[in-house]
Amino acid sequence: MGKINIGIQGFTMPMPQTILGCRQGGRSNFMALAWTTRVNYNPALIMAAVGKKHFSNSAIKESGEFSVNIPSSDMVEITDFVGLVSGSQLDKSELFTIHKGELENAPIIVECPMGIECKVLDSMELPNDTLFVGEVIATWCNEGVLTDGMPDIKKVNPFTLTMPDNRYWAVGECIGRAWHEGKSLK
Ligand SMILES: Cc1cc2nc3c(=O)[nH]c(=O)nc-3n(C[C@H](O)[C@H](O)[C@H](O)COP(=O)(O)O)c2cc1C
Repeated sequence: MGKINIGIQGFTMPMPQTILGCRQGGRSNFMALAWTTRVNYNPALIMAAVGKKHFSNSAIKESGEFSVNIPSSDMVEITDFVGLVSGSQLDKSELFTIHKGELENAPIIVECPMGIECKVLDSMELPNDTLFVGEVIATWCNEGVLTDGMPDIKKVNPFTLTMPDNRYWAVGECIGRAWHEGKSLK
């Protein structure tokens, strides 16, 4: 089959759709965040690429803390909204109920089935974004989304993002076990 080079707009597919939480001057702020992933096993590290012009960027730099919240599929509209409007124009602090976790400036969203508190370990300035590397301090899960003590994707019901077509997607079926299915080829 022939391959076509579509240029530089290459993205991993799909991307996790999350909501980043932070606090500045005692006020919580939230923004849609898709450029995020786990990057180290122990210590547990999560990276988040946050635009330099975003309100959240200066808030994270000031406090050294942020949260990564995982919304469920029924939260598409509010997730998109916090990705359209800046905290420098609108106070977004009342949009969600906050669960007070371990950190002062990493607000955990009660309405999201999962939320991860992070303390900034390192950061790197890229041309447009700051790449924050946060150490995971705590992972808060709503009681109903756990199976055998672990987050169950069917219960969390997250959604994903594709770019450059800019679409949200629900998650499909389980198709195998990781670190297991390949054993038959050994
Ligand atoms: C679906 C979606 C995903 C987004 N992902 C990111 C991201 O990963 N990093 C980023 O810096 N901005 C991302 N944004 C843009 C910010 O969420 C948006 O500019 C937001 O208004 C910034 O808010 P703030 O100024 O209050 O921090 C995304 C927006 C949308 C709609």
